[in-house]
Amino acid sequence: MSETARTSSNSEALAKTAKPAPACTMVIFGANGDLTKRLLMPALYNLSGSKLLDDRFEIIGVDRDASTDEDFRDRQQTMMESFTPAAAGEFAEKALNMEWWGWLKDRLHYMKGDFTTNDIFTALTERLKDRNAVFYLAVADRFFSGIVDMLHKSNLTDERDGSFRRVVIEKPFGHSLQSAKELNAEILSKLDEGQVYRIDHFLGKETVQNIMTLRFSNGLFEPLWNRDHIDSIQITAAETVGVEKRGKFYEVTGALRDMVPNHMFQLLAMTTMEPPNSFDADAVRTEKAKVIDAIRPLTPADVETNVVRGQYVAGTAASGNVIGYTEEPDVAADSTVETFMALKLTIDNWRWAGVPFYLRTGKHMSSRSTEIVITFKQAPTVMFRDTGVSRMPPNTIVLQLQPNEGIATHFNAKRPGQVVELNDVRMVFRYEDFFELKPSTGYETLIYDVLIGDPTLFNRADNIEAGWKGVQPILDAVANGGGTIHTYPAGTDGPAAADALLSLDGRQWRPLKSSSSWSRTSAAP
Ligand code: BG6
Repeated sequence: MSETARTSSNSEALAKTAKPAPACTMVIFGANGDLTKRLLMPALYNLSGSKLLDDRFEIIGVDRDASTDEDFRDRQQTMMESFTPAAAGEFAEKALNMEWWGWLKDRLHYMKGDFTTNDIFTALTERLKDRNAVFYLAVADRFFSGIVDMLHKSNLTDERDGSFRRVVIEKPFGHSLQSAKELNAEILSKLDEGQVYRIDHFLGKETVQNIMTLRFSNGLFEPLWNRDHIDSIQITAAETVGVEKRGKFYEVTGALRDMVPNHMFQLLAMTTMEPPNSFDADAVRTEKAKVIDAIRPLTPADVETNVVRGQYVAGTAASGNVIGYTEEPDVAADSTVETFMALKLTIDNWRWAGVPFYLRTGKHMSSRSTEIVITFKQAPTVMFRDTGVSRMPPNTIVLQLQPNEGIATHFNAKRPGQVVELNDVRMVFRYEDFFELKPSTGYETLIYDVLIGDPTLFNRADNIEAGWKGVQPILDAVANGGGTIHTYPAGTDGPAAADALLSLDGRQWRPLKSSSSWSRTSAAP
């Protein structure tokens, strides 16, 4: 796996310095879109600050509007300035670092072009000649196969004289198993798998990458990571934001397609896959595909009992009073699209037989929290039978990705005093306590990896298809009128039916607000 661009260890002995990526032109289709402004540009800026881009690196932004290099640069700068803390943004340092930004700004170019017609591809051929190039498809998914087709027809994907030509494809990669298969087949009839980088930005998050290290480099955890010791696993990706201005997109996507076969299953795969033989990209991706492929297919009856679809109604969210989903712009008044999903899955393989996996994700929930909770089986209670101990909370390991990055272990300790009384205590490792954490969007590592040609953190065709295969029974059930929609007030932890999903098994979700107790200033136990 590649070195990351942004995290430097305090330990000199362990620190390794990543080399600048080779010279390359990055062509961004959809240069005026949100993804470019909000995520790609800040990530490239951070890479510029880390000196990980070659001096001959350049960007050609392609979009339909008429514009000049200057206008493009100015527009991007205005957006970057809005990310500084002074402007209540979340990515940048105190103020835009003009050395980092100046370096990048000088390398930004713009070409007007309609990527459904030939002209822009002819112009790009002229411009790129035999240079290394990465084509970044930051466009709506309906354009993916058309752009790949045009690139191919214009010979822009030919790799000549040792140069590389790579294509980065955003999610959503298809909208069902069938459509993902078709898209893969179309793309792979024009490109080698090695040229295709299907991106899932969750894999760029430092804590996600750390799951493999945690599991496979620690004698403390590795022997316990199986059905003999683990009772159940919960994966949560809760957001406080609603669908914002993405009503149109969300109406045809919903929480299931938006989050589950991609982000949530990537977390599931990292947590459950078998150890790969090495960090080799294909070794890692093979193990991930295998475990996702082993998810037991849900029957229509399972969809009714193991899946909860929810939709937010007006309520009080973190940002104040908010409207319900069906009142959002571009959303149908009678929409039954879900903004929340909870599901129970099992993995039919040797390691995980019998262990339930509970996944939930939602918009406008009470707290922002992305975490994986590993709950261990109880120790025998026999020793405590004649004491006042009536309850022994199970041990858990919480891998937290957001809002704090770290790992906590919860276990029982004896409360000081003459009577035997147990207390749930925890040990917390916060990244920020051990490492210098630089502002990051999650895209830095991924862009750098594309430039150096390391596909480990990108999805191969089979990873994508395994993900869709896992959720297809739910999509089918919903298409056939199943999958009742439950409402929940914005600003809560989701519909009551999601709690019932676990309580029927004698378990409960870790409360979302628990994640806020990680901050160093919190006094919570
Ligand atoms: C995107 C989804 O892929 O991931 C969004 O389309 C979601 O709906 C986002 O908000 C979550 O990513 P993060 O990094 O903010 O947790």
